[in-house]
Amino acid sequence: MSRVVLGVTGGIAAYKACELLRRLTEAGHEVTVVPTESALRFVGTPTWEALSGRAVPTDVFTDVPSVTHVRLGQQADLIMVAPATADVLARAAQGLAPDLLGNVLLTARCPVVFAPAMHTEMWQHAATVANVAVLRERGAMVIDPAVGRLTGVDTGPGRLPDPAELFDTAQAVLDGGVPVRDLEGRTVVVSAGGTREFLDPVRYLGNRSSGKQGYAVAAAAAARGATVTLISANSTVPVPAGVEVVTVVDAAEMRAQVLARSDVDAVVMAAAVADYRPVEVAETKLKKESGSLTEIRVIENSDILADLVGARGDADTPVVVGFAAETGDETTDYLEYGRRKLARKGCDLLVVNEVGDGLAFEVDRNAATVIGRDGYELDIPMVSKRRLADSVWDAVLASGALK
Ligand code: CTP
Repeated sequence: MSRVVLGVTGGIAAYKACELLRRLTEAGHEVTVVPTESALRFVGTPTWEALSGRAVPTDVFTDVPSVTHVRLGQQADLIMVAPATADVLARAAQGLAPDLLGNVLLTARCPVVFAPAMHTEMWQHAATVANVAVLRERGAMVIDPAVGRLTGVDTGPGRLPDPAELFDTAQAVLDGGVPVRDLEGRTVVVSAGGTREFLDPVRYLGNRSSGKQGYAVAAAAAARGATVTLISANSTVPVPAGVEVVTVVDAAEMRAQVLARSDVDAVVMAAAVADYRPVEVAETKLKKESGSLTEIRVIENSDILADLVGARGDADTPVVVGFAAETGDETTDYLEYGRRKLARKGCDLLVVNEVGDGLAFEVDRNAATVIGRDGYELDIPMVSKRRLADSVWDAVLASGALK
């Protein structure tokens, strides 16, 4: 159980903070909501009190003997401001404390995370850009807003990320602190999800990949300052903050999109790419009576990972990272299969998961071993997929693969 202060400021996205609050309390955290006066015009005190199960302090002059304005900040393990308006970013950058939230931010000794939400023009305004830089410089985490539909007809960067992702970020910061921006200036491509190889307009050969792990790898890289493109196959996971998403369906599209963007510092292939595709794709639905579904003839797809390695030749970029879900058998343990795969594909690092009952697929936690060509090895215990993603980036940096 951790003590979390959820600062809510005056934007329409305040309603999404209700869902974030619910997730934080369900995870067992003690959450005190500190809304600004404008936030209360969007969502009222009873909602915050009911969802947090705690009194909601709204100003500096209530309950003066318990010195709330100092105590909350001092005792918190995490302060997350979601949504954070351009105005609160400006005030925090200046150290102004006109209200309770301002006081809490000034007395904080814990990690502070801002999740901005505003119109694109405000986010891109030179003043906001400078304020975000100041806050990051001082050690706060400022999440890049998601791109998409804003209030009204506008679209662009400025959306509050999905509450599930904000929760993951909050938990990751509680577990490991504010991410260091050690991938600042780096460009990376991450693939995620599972490809579908169509037999006819309604049927396909697919796999169980949900995309969760690949999306977490992309989210972790963005949080560490990288410019991230996510090539996503058939996933329903919400788009992570600050990540550009390109959607694909089958392995051929995945290959084309990944290879076209391989002029980057690193490519992480977390997608489950189908090894085979049907030789023929029927234009109309195959009928049972025709017997054409009893035998499916397939042809091998090219290996994107190996193609990436081949295409870079003697150059050392991009760093190429693969994922492999393996099971062991009587003769060989799963990690040994991983080592063989690493050698066969020639990638720099391979993240090897053991698969089996309740492991790896469609779950929120995962364990793995990252192995490198030169004998580098990092064991990652069972942790959240987001934590595992961070360990993968730690391995990319620690193995010396990223020049
Ligand atoms: N991969 C790829 N292109 C393919 C198949 C796989 O780039 N056509 C990548 C995956 O994204 C993953 C890694 O290769 O990063 C390992 O995938 P896996 O399916 O385990 O590899 P295979 O060579 O197909 O091995 P197996 O025989 O165990 O299926």
